[in-house]
Amino acid sequence: MSGRTPLMAANWKMHFTVDEAVALVEELNRGITRFDDREVVVAPPFTALAEVASALADSPIRLAGQNCHWESQGAYTGEISPPMLRHLGCDYVIVGHSERRQYFGETDESVNRKILALLEVDLGSIFCIGETLEERQAGKTLDVLAKQLRGGLEGLDEEQAGKLVLAYEPVWAIGTGHTASPEQAQEAHAFVRDNLAKRFNNAVANHMRILYGGSVKPDNVDELMAQPDIDGALVGGASLKAASFTRIVDFEE
Ligand code: 13P
Repeated sequence: MSGRTPLMAANWKMHFTVDEAVALVEELNRGITRFDDREVVVAPPFTALAEVASALADSPIRLAGQNCHWESQGAYTGEISPPMLRHLGCDYVIVGHSERRQYFGETDESVNRKILALLEVDLGSIFCIGETLEERQAGKTLDVLAKQLRGGLEGLDEEQAGKLVLAYEPVWAIGTGHTASPEQAQEAHAFVRDNLAKRFNNAVANHMRILYGGSVKPDNVDELMAQPDIDGALVGGASLKAASFTRIVDFEE
């Protein structure tokens, strides 16, 4: 037993109007039964956060933002700050998602600034790392993960690291239907945990939840979750329907 509570997170990306988001979260609230031994998080688009937060007022489902800026306020048109997300009732913010790295210029440095800014207002990051197909084929997967960890966690102390969640999301598996095999995912997760032990200490590494993301579906979640270093899932496509995300949350041990 790892002692880590599994964390099952839905990343809705750029989907759903406010009404659609509230309807889905209400369906999840009715359908999910396994709240006692697992943590469930939804990350709606910014526009739906306030209404989803109200709909979840009496629910154990927790709320995450999908991104943030590192400043707490200022002339940054179109940006959203960590205190704003805190005040809406978020517990986490997804940081460094590969779609943000790929399409919006997110770098290890900006990821690091965001993680530090979120810690300032006591918000946890779901810090995403992962290699592209080209990097995997060139045998560089572990080097890429090490570099992203080093850059993203720059300047954090052990206590701060203890508040994070990591997500390993191989870019080639996101939205493609190609899931990493349980062995491929386990190898990456074990490497990440070992890296955290060296960078911080064993206690931080053993406590850290490392989620797998990349085409997690009802039919592969059980074998992924059976791996010793996979502590949860960050789910895109299959989190957009109540039935499939409910089945993922209710993974069989
Ligand atoms: P998919 O589950 O659609 O592959 O998306 C994974 C992801 O990017 C979650 O953040």
